[in-house]
Amino acid sequence: MKIHLIVGARPNFMKIAPLYKELAKYSDIFQVKLIHTGQHYDERMSKFFFDELQLPVPDKYLEVGSASHGVQTARIMERYEEVLFEEKPDLVVVAGDVNSTMACALDAVKMHIPVAHLEAGLRSFDMSMPEEINRIVTDSISDYLLTPSPDGDENLIKEGITKEKIFRVGNIMIDSLIQYLDKSESSTIHTELNLQKGKYCLITLHRPSNVDHKENLATILGSFKEIAKETVLVFPMHPRTLKNIEKMGLKNVLESILQLRIVPPVGYYDFIHLQRYAKFIVTDSGGIQEESTFMNVPCLTLRDNTERPITVTQGSNILVKLNKSEIIQEVEKILQGNIKKAQIPDLWDGKTAERIVEIFMKMEKN
Ligand code: UD1
Ligand code: UDP
Repeated sequence: MKIHLIVGARPNFMKIAPLYKELAKYSDIFQVKLIHTGQHYDERMSKFFFDELQLPVPDKYLEVGSASHGVQTARIMERYEEVLFEEKPDLVVVAGDVNSTMACALDAVKMHIPVAHLEAGLRSFDMSMPEEINRIVTDSISDYLLTPSPDGDENLIKEGITKEKIFRVGNIMIDSLIQYLDKSESSTIHTELNLQKGKYCLITLHRPSNVDHKENLATILGSFKEIAKETVLVFPMHPRTLKNIEKMGLKNVLESILQLRIVPPVGYYDFIHLQRYAKFIVTDSGGIQEESTFMNVPCLTLRDNTERPITVTQGSNILVKLNKSEIIQEVEKILQGNIKKAQIPDLWDGKTAERIVEIFMKMEKN
C-alpha cells in the first residue's frame, strides 16, 4: 500500500511524525513517502522539527513558500498534482487545518485517491478563520475522518457525514508530546534565557485576527506591558507577527516592555520545556491549547472561540476576549493562585498512531 504523508507548516510535523514511525514498523505492508509542500521553510519553522522529531529528509519538497491564500493553495495544488500523476499512491494522509492540508486533499480526491484526515471534525464555527474553511473543505471530501475527541465526531455527524467514515483515534500531537517529554528535559533554554522554572509567562501569537490588525495587536501588547510589571514574559515570535510588528511601527511599544524576552521561534524540545515549566501561557495557537492541557499548565487563549472546546471543558484552557482589562483580570487570577485543574481527555494517550495504523491495515486487507 503506497501512502503519502503530507506536511507543510509547523504544527504538521508533530502530527505526522508519530504516524511515519508507526508505519515504518510495517515496511513489508506500507510504502511511505513524506511530502513537504514548503509552506513553512525557515530553518526554525521546519528543519528544526525534522531533526528533533527524527524525520527523514522529505521524499518530495514542493518549495511553495509564502503567498496569498489563493496563490499558495494553487501553487501547492499544481505541484502536488504532478507528484500524484507520477506516483499514484493508494492513500494520502493530511493533518490539521493549514492551506497545505486542504490543497493536497483536493488534488487527491479529484484523482480518486482516498484521503485520510488526521484531526478531523474540529470546528470553531468562525468562518473568518482561514483554518475553519480548510477544516470544512477537507472533512467534506475525505474518506477517513480521524477525530481526536467526541466533539469532532458530533460535528461531522451534524454535517451529514456517515458514521462509517468517522474513526475516533485520539490526539496524535500528544503522541509526539509523550514521546519527547523526557528528552525535552535536556533543553538548556532556561539557562540561555535566564529564566526560573515556574516564574514566567510563555507567549505565542500568530492568528491573523490578533496580529494582522494594528489596533488588536496594540491592545495585546498593551496588556503585556501591564502583565510584565508582575512577571517575566518569554515570547518566541512567529515570523508573521514579527513582520507585522515591524510593518505597523509597533517595535517601540515592544521595546518599552520591561521583563519581556523576545526570541525567534524555538525548537520543539525547547518549546515543550518552556511550556512545562511556565507559570502560565498566553497564546492563540491551536496545538498549544492541547499541549498545555496535557501538561496541566494554565493557558489563556486570546480568542473568542476555539475548535478545541475539550481543552476548556476538561483542560486548563480559558478563552479570553481581546480586551486589555479582561486579559489582565485573568492573569491576576492565576497570579493569585486561582488555577483551573486540568483532566487529560480520553485517548490522548500516546497510542493514536497505533490505532490509525490498525485502521490502515484493515483497508489494506479489503
Ligand atoms: C499557518 C497556518 C495556520 C497555522 C500556522 C502555524 C494557513 C492558512 N495558516 O499560518 O493555520 O496555525 O501556520 O504556525 O495555512 N513566514 C516566514 N517563514 C516561514 C513561514 C512563514 O517568514 O517559514 C512568514 C511569511 O511572511 C508569511 C507569513 O509568515 O507570509 C505567514 O505564513 P503562512 O504560512 O501563510 O501562515 P501562518 O501565519 O504561518
Ligand atoms: N512550537 C514550537 N516552537 C515554537 C512555537 C510552537 O516548537 O516556538 C510547537 C508547539 O509545541 C506545538 C506546535 O508548535 O507543537 C504548534 O504550532 P503553531 O502554534 O505554529 O500552530 P497551530 O497549532 O496554531 O496551528
